[in-house]
Amino acid sequence: MRPACDRIWTHARLATLRDGVGVVEDGAVGVRDGLISYVGSADGAPDAVETIDCQGRWITPGLIDCHTHLVHGGNRAAEFEMRLAGARYEDIARAGGGIISTMRATREASEEALVESALPRLDALIAEGVTTVEVKSGYGLDLDNEVKMLRAARRLGSERAVSIRTSFLGAHALPPEFSGDADGYIDLVCGMLPEIAPLADAVDGFCEGIGFSPAQIGRLFEAAGRLGLPVKLHAEQLSNSRGAELAARHGALSADHLEHLDAAGVAAMARAGTVAVLLPGAFYFMRDTQAPPVEALRRAGVPMAVATDCNPGTAPLTSLLLAMNMGATLFRLTVEECLAGVTREAARALGMLERVGTLEVGKRCDLAVWDIERPAELVYRMGYNPLHARVWRGI
Ligand code: NIG
Ligand code: FE
Repeated sequence: MRPACDRIWTHARLATLRDGVGVVEDGAVGVRDGLISYVGSADGAPDAVETIDCQGRWITPGLIDCHTHLVHGGNRAAEFEMRLAGARYEDIARAGGGIISTMRATREASEEALVESALPRLDALIAEGVTTVEVKSGYGLDLDNEVKMLRAARRLGSERAVSIRTSFLGAHALPPEFSGDADGYIDLVCGMLPEIAPLADAVDGFCEGIGFSPAQIGRLFEAAGRLGLPVKLHAEQLSNSRGAELAARHGALSADHLEHLDAAGVAAMARAGTVAVLLPGAFYFMRDTQAPPVEALRRAGVPMAVATDCNPGTAPLTSLLLAMNMGATLFRLTVEECLAGVTREAARALGMLERVGTLEVGKRCDLAVWDIERPAELVYRMGYNPLHARVWRGI
């Protein structure tokens, strides 16, 4: 008779993340056909074709980076130097740099070149136990180039053993050909949706003075809703434009950044179950001083995720472990919140909690096996990678 498990990892300490950290001492995780078929104590674990002795190492769910701009042309090291010399992000953006300079580099790159340049960034994430990555478009800003970016993003998932989720971020910035006509551009973006829909798992936008107004984003979300596409939003990053409330009204999966979120925004997110995706790497790199209202989010029971925001302008960060450390040091998240933020809550922010994010029977067997003594070490260290092994869909 076929054993109950294809493979079992035993003599491990488990952080299941099912409820709190969900610790199981001397635990085991079994897989069958790529799905978790056993989670529990090593004692009494079922038979398996192959047994892997973890020798007391910790197992967490595979990490999930739920907000990245991993696919893009070029980089913005020169703008970084300008900022070091005193220039402001918004001023650089208004002078045609910023997102628009990455748009130019991205439009010039072939789909192949975008895949090639994204792979080392993806590999850096994978090396730290990441098994699911969300990737946004938003540097093409016309139909062909947005499609090219989303195709490149999806292709990353066939180049590496990792799950890719794509978000269409056509409403990221106003391309120069629409200068002075943001409403016209939003019409175009709404019109792109039917062609984009097969390539995108969600629709995202940038609601900001240098991005789009709530009214414009509202039109986009209505168009997305008509096609059954989930929405999420870059909101309240540089100022408060009530983007989070708008996102919550549309039942958004997440509102992201949120440095300038106010009490009404917190309440709206809590009511809607919208996840707060915190991006401490961008906060750090922009030398922001106003942290998101973590205590208010916590009190209201808003789920909080943590992500890298890996992008060339505000967060050239390819370490989710470092993002956790920054979440704790800069935003005062607890270790438990950081761990949940890159597993369970990140899965929720992607609408994938049924499939990934915790160690539970029936979910995909995506695991990270760590050489650590306690889970807090994953948050505590800076620039050190204790990953022992990574498992994606049972392998
Ligand atoms: O998440 N806020 C807008 N989008 C990115 C920045 C993109 C860029 O500067 O290239 C962000 O921070
Ligand atoms: Fe972003």
